[in-house]
Amino acid sequence: MRNLIAERLELLDQTHLLKYIKELSSQERNQLLRQIDNLDFSVLDDNIAENKRGSFEPPFAMSIEEIDKNREQYKKTGIQAIRDGKVGAVLLAGGQGSRLGFNKPKGMFNIGVNKELFIFQCLINNLLDVVREAEAWIPLFVMTSVQNDAETKQFFEEHDYFGYSSDNVMFFVQEELPTVDVNGKLMLADKNVVSTAPNGNGGWYLSMVKSGVFKILKDNKLEWLNVFAVDNVLQRMVDPCFIGAVIDSGKTSGSKVVAKASPDERVGVMCLEDGKPSIVEYYEMTDEMRCSREPDGRLSYNYGVILNYLFRIKDLDRALKIKLPVHKAFKKINYLGDDGTVVKPDEPNAYKFETLVLDMVKLQDSCLAYEVDRKKEFAPVKNKTGVDSVESARELLKYNNVEL
Ligand code: UTP
Repeated sequence: MRNLIAERLELLDQTHLLKYIKELSSQERNQLLRQIDNLDFSVLDDNIAENKRGSFEPPFAMSIEEIDKNREQYKKTGIQAIRDGKVGAVLLAGGQGSRLGFNKPKGMFNIGVNKELFIFQCLINNLLDVVREAEAWIPLFVMTSVQNDAETKQFFEEHDYFGYSSDNVMFFVQEELPTVDVNGKLMLADKNVVSTAPNGNGGWYLSMVKSGVFKILKDNKLEWLNVFAVDNVLQRMVDPCFIGAVIDSGKTSGSKVVAKASPDERVGVMCLEDGKPSIVEYYEMTDEMRCSREPDGRLSYNYGVILNYLFRIKDLDRALKIKLPVHKAFKKINYLGDDGTVVKPDEPNAYKFETLVLDMVKLQDSCLAYEVDRKKEFAPVKNKTGVDSVESARELLKYNNVEL
């Protein structure tokens, strides 16, 4: 195997990965060779990040006023679907939270001031509201990464799952992709380990399928999965009204959205792309798209996504065959320096590769953009201070009468 791998690396101009092989024990050597054998080298392809876009149009969105007119009916449909065991929740908790600069899983961050209130706890509290309302447990699938899996599980154990039923919580680990430096070289994280990073939140369904938890999915009556980010402390998951509105609308997926704070707000917004539901990133929008308004005065591209999607499982199965675009992100990534010691850079130094859950929306036949009040449902914790920070999230939690 060693010779074959060496030849392959030679062809790819990556032989430096074997620089320390002679110093390694036989166990370490096998570990390194096995890892290299299983690496996805497609990240070295120059065209990997290509994501050609089509032509955009404003989407249909269900505004809060429209939802209010049918709120009771939607809730009824949603509660019934939950009681019938048709809806599962998927918490995306495999991210590295590098902007927050917290060296543990982001869900372990204590957002409390006078008392402990962990991000995971905020989310579970919100989900428990629905469990009480529906009088039924909701299966919760938690996606972790190779790096944070053990710590995350231990944290849930130590805190008694924050009052959730542990039988209804299932963890699965997302996959990894190698990282690449600015010279196009794969990096070593240690003498016997190639540097890899979680492959983005778009890999969640494939990782679920590959892990045992998929069997649970198939053995159950589950039809819908509500996927959401770990870092929005006001996130309302498996919201009966949202679930019911999607089901009653006959659409095959749904996305919670918030009205943009200003035309220049840096959020991805719902749109139609070549007639299909899609999300256009703020940097992909022309000035005309950013500022265009509808006859009622609302921005034409008004609805920002908050990473809370509802997908139909049978459509996800179909979409598995389609490759999602891979996005390249320039990040601070530790690596083994020339002297054989680990370097922890202060500035971004290398690329990690990610597929994104928002690209899955485009694979759905239809998607209901469902507006929620941003003050009540959108408090992302991305940064330490400033926009979308611990400070701003605390303010919004207080606004919603959450004791901190
Ligand atoms: P972000 O895009 O904010 O990424 O994740 P991040 O890694 O958490 O944070 P930064 O960019 O390094 O500061 C949005 C959601 O997707 C999850 C995160 O846990 C969060 O819930 N995610 C992201 C994954 O589950 N896996 C990934 O590989 C990336």
